[in-house]
Amino acid sequence: MSRAHERAYRLLAERVRLGAPARRALYATIAALTGSGVWWLGVHYAANVFVARSDDFSRLAQEALALKVHGATAFATLFALGAVSAYHVRRGWALKRNRIMGSVLVAEFTLLTISGYALYYLVSDSTHAPVSVLHWVLGLALAPILVLHILTGRRSRGLAPVVAAKHRDSRAKTTQSAIPRGAE
Ligand code: HEM
Ligand code: HEM
Repeated sequence: MSRAHERAYRLLAERVRLGAPARRALYATIAALTGSGVWWLGVHYAANVFVARSDDFSRLAQEALALKVHGATAFATLFALGAVSAYHVRRGWALKRNRIMGSVLVAEFTLLTISGYALYYLVSDSTHAPVSVLHWVLGLALAPILVLHILTGRRSRGLAPVVAAKHRDSRAKTTQSAIPRGAE
């Protein structure tokens, strides 16, 4: 690998990191998304604790409010994911860093989006309950998966020069084997 290539590689590695404002915005959006989901769960399954006058009317009003916040934060999350895909995911993939946990996170968001869509547009009275449980179980798993992704991503920082060195070695071997015998 030439010096110019190595410099470009290092630059790309630095740029995998999200900028501080983008990172904070992403964390705040995901916190609001998860918080509104947990709010709905609290009102739905533990209404006595979460709603002051716990009749069905107040419970449904609280659930509707939680879902309004949830819908808005879900749109914001999809917007943020688009931005993350354009730079972070492409660069991380090109550098072969954190591919496994990156794919797990992408799969998690895909399943959440599909099950969320199904909840809003597709379910009937008989299919609502299982799809709902699937969606919120996946939802509760989002924060731990994101934390794992970040930890494995940070640990992969040291691997970048190793990948670069491997590439350099394999290039050197190819060049050597291209030289005819006796001509070295
Ligand atoms: C759903 C899409 C994804 C989201 C929302 C996401 C989000 C994040 C966040 C918030 C961080 C920690 C902050 C940072 O260091 O920038 C991070 C780190 C990282 N992610 Fe992702 N990620 C996604 C997908 C991927 C994929 C598919 C890959 C790789 C193919 C990847 C590779 C990395 C790496 C290498 C780091 C560590 C960067 C460093 O600290 O040096 N990510 N990710
Ligand atoms: C990209 C991520 C997500 C998207 C696109 C999404 C989308 C949706 C949509 C469209 C609905 C239906 C709203 C309605 O019926 O008015 C919904 C409901 C819900 N979501 Fe999410 N969501 C996501 C992440 C999460 C997370 C992280 C949690 C955390 C626990 C969660 C928990 C819930 C709950 C509890 C419901 C109510 C279920 C029901 O009506 O039976 N979601 N979501």
